This record gives sequence, structure tokens and C-alpha cells, in this order.
Amino acid sequence: MEKRRVLIVGGYGTVGRLVVEQLCGDQDLQLIIAGRNRIKAEETAQEFNASSCTLDANELPSVQEALINIDLVINCFGGPFTNAPLALAATAAERGIDYIDVSGSMEYSKRFLSLASTAEENHATLITGMGANPGIPSLAVCWLASQLEPPVEAEINFIFGSNIETLSPASLQEMHYLFKNPPLLWQHQTWQLNKVSGKQQTFNPPFHKSVYLGPSFSYDMMSATEIHDLNRLSAWSGCQSTFQGTLMYLGMKLGLAKHQRTRHLFLKLLKSAGQSATAVAESMIFVTASGKYQGLQAVKSVQCVGDEVFMTAAAVSTTARLLLDDTVSRTGAFLPPSVIPVDLFFDRLQAVDCIKVSVD
Ligand SMILES: NC(=O)c1ccc[n+]([C@@H]2O[C@H](COP(=O)([O-])OP(=O)(O)OC[C@H]3O[C@@H](n4cnc5c(N)ncnc54)[C@H](OP(=O)(O)O)[C@@H]3O)[C@@H](O)[C@H]2O)c1
Repeated sequence: MEKRRVLIVGGYGTVGRLVVEQLCGDQDLQLIIAGRNRIKAEETAQEFNASSCTLDANELPSVQEALINIDLVINCFGGPFTNAPLALAATAAERGIDYIDVSGSMEYSKRFLSLASTAEENHATLITGMGANPGIPSLAVCWLASQLEPPVEAEINFIFGSNIETLSPASLQEMHYLFKNPPLLWQHQTWQLNKVSGKQQTFNPPFHKSVYLGPSFSYDMMSATEIHDLNRLSAWSGCQSTFQGTLMYLGMKLGLAKHQRTRHLFLKLLKSAGQSATAVAESMIFVTASGKYQGLQAVKSVQCVGDEVFMTAAAVSTTARLLLDDTVSRTGAFLPPSVIPVDLFFDRLQAVDCIKVSVD
């Protein structure tokens, strides 16, 4: 049988390389490592018995050439996705090629969803936002809500870990964008400004230190409300009360991730704090939902603990396999909750090493 050809854009970057590691054992796949640097792409391809090509995600002719004879595009390019051209996703939609990316940007998602009809006409499934944020938490909300009777209220808690070694300037830039958005909550069938200032919370180990959580939200979760008719959905994010967690929070608040020069300094500072003995290495996504279960009021939760970048790669490779197995049959352009079969997704995510998913 002919191998399925999977193009991994940014395949020698932090997230992309992890995706390559997670997919390279699959004998049915031919992985193609892509990026702007030919030598790095070739070296990584050699390491994983893959092939390589050069590609600039912002240049349409380069994208059009690279997408010849490809079955699936995985876009892990070093964003930020905000304001990035849609060349990869648009070309995939036109050519009927399935596509996944790791954007966490609301601005990008809105433009991306305009590709829906082209993708549908050409039988392609395009998915954006697949990663630690917003993919995993929004899927977790849907998964829990599907097990409860309405009215359902859900809450997302996202705690940034400090495995800072894997944090890139691109990730910081995207986080800056998310921090800038006003925190919203879904209530009474509409989005409202979340005016609560924050809360202190203690989670189970490894987060036995208390965590300060501020309200946070991105419209990227909106399809969760559409699908399950949630009564209320709020989101909280924050950092652990370690030296490094506090630095991260303050740096973001002060806008240190906004400009290239301060972003690099900020990253250096965070990395130096990451070597301290008090740094805790993992992030956590903790999602709860309450509603009726077998006639009684119940609360269900999903907790994912791991390195944020690893979680992102695991979400992407799990989704890639669902697309390649033809488990996802809908075509069009989607945010994850609108198209991913949640039971299967979490079944498979729980099987990934180095990411702990527990469900109550
Ligand atoms: N959704 C989530 O939860 C989540 C979590 C973590 C990260 N992310 C996102 O994932 C993306 C990658 O992060 P990372 O930490 O892996 O970054 P990274 O380590 O800097 O890697 C980025 C990769 O993209 C390539 N690249 C950059 N610009 C490109 C272009 N114009 N065309 C083609 N390739 C290009 C880079 O190679 P060259 O520069 O040599 O081309 C490199 O291989 C970022 O946008 C980040 O925001 C999302």
C-alpha cells in the first residue's frame, strides 16, 4: 500500500519535532520535514528516516510547490499565527488536502473559518487551534458536557508550567496576544466581560503550591457552547506561585513579550529562573463541568498534566491519526470541538506517554 504523505511545517522546531517523534514510528506514513532552512530540514529528516523540503509558509508560490502530492499538512510554523497569511490552509482547502495547525489566535481562527466552503467542496478537513490551548480544554469541555444532562456549567483552568527550556519567542508572542484580550465568559447565551479580578486556588500535586488564577478567555472556545448549549463557561489562567511563575505573570502583564528585543530578554530571564530548584516543570489543564448525571447533580473533571509543548504535539499527532484513519468524516474548516470525536480523542490522548490525563 502506498504510504500517506504528511508534510510537517516547522518540523525541526520545538513543537514540530515532537510531532515528528510521535508519528515517525508509523510505517504507513512518509513524513516530510519542512521549514525555511534546508540544512536543518535535511538533518532532521535524516534522523527520523523522513524526507524534507524547504518552504516559507508566508509565500504562496513556495507553499503551492510544497503541497504537491501531500495527504495531510501539519502546520507547526513559528508563528505568531495572528496576522499570518492563510497560504497553507487555503492551498490545502483548494487541493482537498487535510490540514491541522497549532494556532492559539482568535484573529487567525476567524479568517481560517472562512475557508469552510472551499474545503467542503474539495472534501478536505481543516482544523485550527489544535494544541494545549484552545484544543485540549475546549474538547474536554465538550467531552464532559456530552456525559451530563443540561443545564451544564463548565470551567477551564489553565496553569502555565515552567518547562521553560521548550518555550520559544513565538510562543511568548502568541501568549502576549492572548493576555491582551479581555477576559470573557459565556452566560445567558451571550459573551460577557468577566469582571471578577482573580482567585487563589490549590490543586493536587504536582501543583501543591497555591496558584493565582485570573479570568481569561478566548472566543476560540465558542464552538463548545454551540455544540452543547452550555449554560455557563468561564476560563481561568495563571502561573504557579514559584519565582518563575511569578516572573512569567509579571512579564506578561508588563508587556515584555510584545517587542522582539524585550521578548528575547524576557525569555532569557525566564530560562535562568527555570534552572532553580524550585521551578516546577509541568503545566496543567483542569476542566470541570457540572450538570445532572443519572438524575443526580454531579461534577465531572478532566486533568491533563505535562509539558505544554508536549501536550500540544500529542494533541496534534492524535488528531493526525484520526484524520488519516478516516475517523473524522466531516469536511470543511473547523475549530476542534466541531469536528473531533471527543471519546476517541481522549481515549487515545490518555495512551500517550509523558502526559497524564485523569478523569473523574
Ligand atoms: N496551541 C498551543 O497550545 C501551542 C502551544 C505551543 C506552541 N504553539 C505555537 O506553535 C508554533 C511553533 O512554536 P515552537 O515553539 O515550535 O517554535 P519554534 O521552536 O521557533 O519552531 C518554529 C518552526 O517553524 C519554522 N518556521 C518559522 N517561520 C516559518 C515560515 N515562515 N515558513 C515555514 N517554516 C517556518 C522554523 O524554522 P525556520 O525559522 O528555519 O523556517 C521552525 O522549524 C508557534 O506559533 C506557537 O505559538 C501553540
